[in-house]
Amino acid sequence: MIYLDNAATSWPKPPGVAAAMLHFLDQVGANPGRSGHRLSVEAGRIVYQAREALAALFNVRDPLRVVFAANATEALNLALHGYLRPGDHVITSSMEHNSVMRPLRALARPPAGRERIALTVIPCSSQGFLDPTALEAAIRPETALIVLNHASNVCGSLLPVREAGAIARRHGCLLLVDAAQTAGAYPLDVEADQIDLLAFTGHKALVGPMGTGGLVIGERVDVGRLEPLKQGGTGSRSEQQEQPDFLPDKYESGTANAVGLAGLGAGVRWVLERGVAEIRRHEVELTQRLIDGLTAIPGIAVYGGLAAARQTATVSFNLDGLLPSDVGLRLDEEYDIMCRVGLHCAPAAHETLGTFPQGTVRFSLGSINTTAEVDQALEAVSTLARAPIQNQKSRRSRSRDKIGNRP
Ligand SMILES: Cc1ncc(COP(=O)(O)O)c(C=O)c1O
Repeated sequence: MIYLDNAATSWPKPPGVAAAMLHFLDQVGANPGRSGHRLSVEAGRIVYQAREALAALFNVRDPLRVVFAANATEALNLALHGYLRPGDHVITSSMEHNSVMRPLRALARPPAGRERIALTVIPCSSQGFLDPTALEAAIRPETALIVLNHASNVCGSLLPVREAGAIARRHGCLLLVDAAQTAGAYPLDVEADQIDLLAFTGHKALVGPMGTGGLVIGERVDVGRLEPLKQGGTGSRSEQQEQPDFLPDKYESGTANAVGLAGLGAGVRWVLERGVAEIRRHEVELTQRLIDGLTAIPGIAVYGGLAAARQTATVSFNLDGLLPSDVGLRLDEEYDIMCRVGLHCAPAAHETLGTFPQGTVRFSLGSINTTAEVDQALEAVSTLARAPIQNQKSRRSRSRDKIGNRP
């Protein structure tokens, strides 16, 4: 079986991840930061080590500025709902995932009686790239935030985050980066890239489990202005009825997903050991092989810039005469290839690429994929392109025949 759905979630995980989670459940088990006994202290240490590993990966000086959340979506919602105020202007791109677009649309069109933010969505090119001069031209005196997807989850195109960081500094606003597709797969340095808020997810290229992610809160962010999404117990300042105002507790109420964070810590340490530069080198090599192989197939449309150096390891395509859903089903049933089809929670990106509403077939490689797997996937797509009409019953429909048609 070939797993090419790493942009949805990475799999398989490196062996240390499951081992760290099992160790936590079997040997530690206690609630981090809640009790003074040694198991609770050990749980707190494991969670802090995950914070430290992430801080090292993103070049964050103070690990306490790494705030954990359930996923990138929660981190993005914290940044957007927590930071923005009525009357603020926000600039974003047309390549955003719905985890940015939906909160921004909600803030721009709030229920009756509530004040709104102003939103500018900069159109990207039909290959999914953003011109930073268009970004700068959209700045207004009331612009509070630039929000950018670091890389498209549809076609992999990399957006000019470093240029956006410089623009944000020049104009006195903040830069929020959605690094769901790049954290662990592409070098990220909050100092050099001048990123003020960095939302990441733990379960993709950071190779941790689902249910982990977070927000890096940079030193330029006014923590007094950034409101938490929730209030509650933090294990700190228990004598107070008000939410603590310090990092990370202000934003981390309730028992942490400590088992998940144990796994995330192991995943990030694996990434650090292998090195993001080496992971990137491997993925660029495989991605270019995939792009070159796909574009050579007659009757195929491949989207994006078609240059691995300008994108992540995510490649979208369509085959003439076949719906993406049919291609995905046949790749699964006839070739044991797992990929994702459709709109990938990013309708604006598909409108930009000209693939709305049918969407695309998406192959997303991970650090563990091999050249042989890419070649097998190319062979499968090439066969499907040559014989778009299914001439043999799929395994699943054969087995449905055996068990009969149940309601
Ligand atoms: C670009 C982008 N942003 C945000 C998200 C949301 O990540 P999560 O599922 O961890 O909330 C995804 C997930 O696919 C994504 O690709």
